[in-house]
Amino acid sequence: MSDTATATAYSQLGGEPGLRALVDRFYDLMDLEPAYAGIRALHPSTLDGSRDKLTWFLSGWLGGPDLYQQRFGHPRLRARHLPYQIGIAERDQWLACMSQAMQENAVDVELAQRLGAAFFNTADWMRNLGG
Ligand code: HEM
Repeated sequence: MSDTATATAYSQLGGEPGLRALVDRFYDLMDLEPAYAGIRALHPSTLDGSRDKLTWFLSGWLGGPDLYQQRFGHPRLRARHLPYQIGIAERDQWLACMSQAMQENAVDVELAQRLGAAFFNTADWMRNLGG
């Protein structure tokens, strides 16, 4: 099953360990980089739960096992983000943080571009503030 034309993004990322490494890098960067301090401040003091939830969600979203749905049912992602003020600045910080994580984890450039476009649509849909 190494046919790249039919491979899921999940398997192209290296399955569960590759995805977990990407999510860990994403939240490490969110913790470390001043450029992402705005969205870091929206998160709980410890990011352990966020790491698990994003890994479980992306697993299904990228074509792997639907771990989030199995635990929590339908993600209702937009509703779950309503408690946080998300405008263009927050959207762009999230996307830049994920883009840096993909680059630093040496995700294939074409795959990173494809995922970047999909992340943009989802992050933009999460906005609940004008700016
Ligand atoms: C647009 C900018 C975004 C901001 C500022 C943001 C912020 C947050 C915050 C503060 C939480 C709560 C963390 C926690 O409870 O540990 C959260 C949860 C979550 N976010 Fe985002 N997020 C954004 C975009 C996204 C995107 C694009 C995705 C998916 C591709 C995503 C997936 C999730 C998931 C799966 C959860 C856990 C939901 C739950 O079960 O409570 N987020 N986000």
